[in-house]
Amino acid sequence: MIAQESPAAPSTSPAVAAVVVLAAGQGTRMRSTTPKVLHTLGGRSLLGHVLAAAEPLRAGTTVVVVGAGRDQVEAHLAEIAPGALAVVQEEQRGSGHAAAVALDAVPDIEGPVLLVNGDAPLLRATTVSALVEAHRAAGSALTVLTAEVDDPTGLGRIVRGADGGVRAIVEERDATPEQRALREINAGVYVGDAASIRSALGRISTDNDQGEQYFTDVLGLLVADGAPVGGHVAEDPDDVLGCNDRRELAFRRRTLNDRVLDDLMRSGVTVVDPQTTWVDVTCSVGADAVLEPGTQLQGTTAVGGGAVVGPDTTLVDCVVEDGASVVRSHCLGAQIGPDATVGPFSYLRPGTRLARGAKVGAFVETKNAEVGEGSKVPHLSYVGDATIGRGANIGAATVFVNYDGVAKHRTTIGDQVRVGSDTMLVAPVTVGDGAYTAAGSVITSDVPPGAMAVARSPQRNVGGWVRRRRSGTPAAEAAEAAERRAAAAAEDRSEATGTHTDT
Ligand code: UD1
Ligand code: CA
Repeated sequence: MIAQESPAAPSTSPAVAAVVVLAAGQGTRMRSTTPKVLHTLGGRSLLGHVLAAAEPLRAGTTVVVVGAGRDQVEAHLAEIAPGALAVVQEEQRGSGHAAAVALDAVPDIEGPVLLVNGDAPLLRATTVSALVEAHRAAGSALTVLTAEVDDPTGLGRIVRGADGGVRAIVEERDATPEQRALREINAGVYVGDAASIRSALGRISTDNDQGEQYFTDVLGLLVADGAPVGGHVAEDPDDVLGCNDRRELAFRRRTLNDRVLDDLMRSGVTVVDPQTTWVDVTCSVGADAVLEPGTQLQGTTAVGGGAVVGPDTTLVDCVVEDGASVVRSHCLGAQIGPDATVGPFSYLRPGTRLARGAKVGAFVETKNAEVGEGSKVPHLSYVGDATIGRGANIGAATVFVNYDGVAKHRTTIGDQVRVGSDTMLVAPVTVGDGAYTAAGSVITSDVPPGAMAVARSPQRNVGGWVRRRRSGTPAAEAAEAAERRAAAAAEDRSEATGTHTDT
């Protein structure tokens, strides 16, 4: 029922000694003040996706090379991977230089190391594990993840020898026309022996079109050394797609979403319109749930079996339990109990907890509000800082007046309470079990159990006011006509009974 792929089976010792993520690049093509690796899709940053793909390797050391926008990247890293070490690459002199800075920061690391570009958000744990396993099985010094793609534009090409072995990686701008025609590309994901990589990095030049130190040259140098190198072709070429600008970000987001929805549908979830349904990789949905068109599930949202969400509903960090329904609503940090119903057109804010079978109907806003089992808030109300017991009914247009301009206060409503329409509940206030409030009341003091609270001024009718003060208006004409009809009816009655009334 979890939308995410399952992690690789745990082994006894970590598959690699360290994971190094290259994430110092400017990301100029994003044209953003946000560093590239912090752009998000499917509920995680680019960096978050890469770290998640490497997570099952259980490397003892994770190094993230930061540079452009490093304060932001470091702050994000502290949140999502507090154990990772951020290493600063002061000047962005290329991916090879970045790798060298990273390995210099962890001089004790030896054995296999995974190096991965920070902008590969579709990379899956299974693909990384397969690469590491291929590397281990072949006993290579370096293995590069590759893919056969239809359009290799802008990517490094994999050059193989007559024996099929990988010989070099050539960047497009440095490639010959023959090399450009190659469609096997470098994914920017490598696993290699730390000592071999260090030795080659010490020798890379800047002899290329960009004048940068390319990590990709490590491969050619190791080939020249006579060291065994290999290429592992990814099963799904989508896995290796990078993300350099906003168009690519949108395409990657779509691909990621398609994968999440595929998994959900395979596990028994009905997705009515995959084109307009967006589910983060961090969400889960139970079997027989229905996601109607225009549904967005974000963050830690978990939807239970048989629940219905949508159409046109956004749930962020929510729990929707089995059999509940949420229609055309926007909910943040809300817990919606089994068989509860929400919407259409409601706004549930953090701290909202609906018990089993509770109802929050149309045009209702809730915040820090517990609505007890079977209780109803059917129409046009604001419920803030409240506890509502079981079986209560909150009349239309009721406001829980929780804010006195300085502090927030709580309202407690007992079991089986009937709050009349348009009641103002001025907190702090308690309405006891089984009590009623009269429609239009402003409740400022506690109501004992079973009492009827009436807190409104008595009605006074000023007879003939419209005829006197608004004469000649349609209202006055209507009133006069009604008076004439009433008088005529009275006359008919008096004739019938033989009495006479003077008009
Ligand atoms: C790189 C590869 C290319 C491969 C492609 C896959 C090189 C030279 N080329 O190209 O063969 O096909 O990825 O997507 O590596 N970085 C730093 N510091 C730097 C420069 C880069 O940390 O000084 C990081 C970037 O943040 C990025 C990664 O290294 O995560 C790759 O850099 P990028 O500029 O995106 O390389 P590409 O041109 O995409
Ligand atoms: Ca890139």
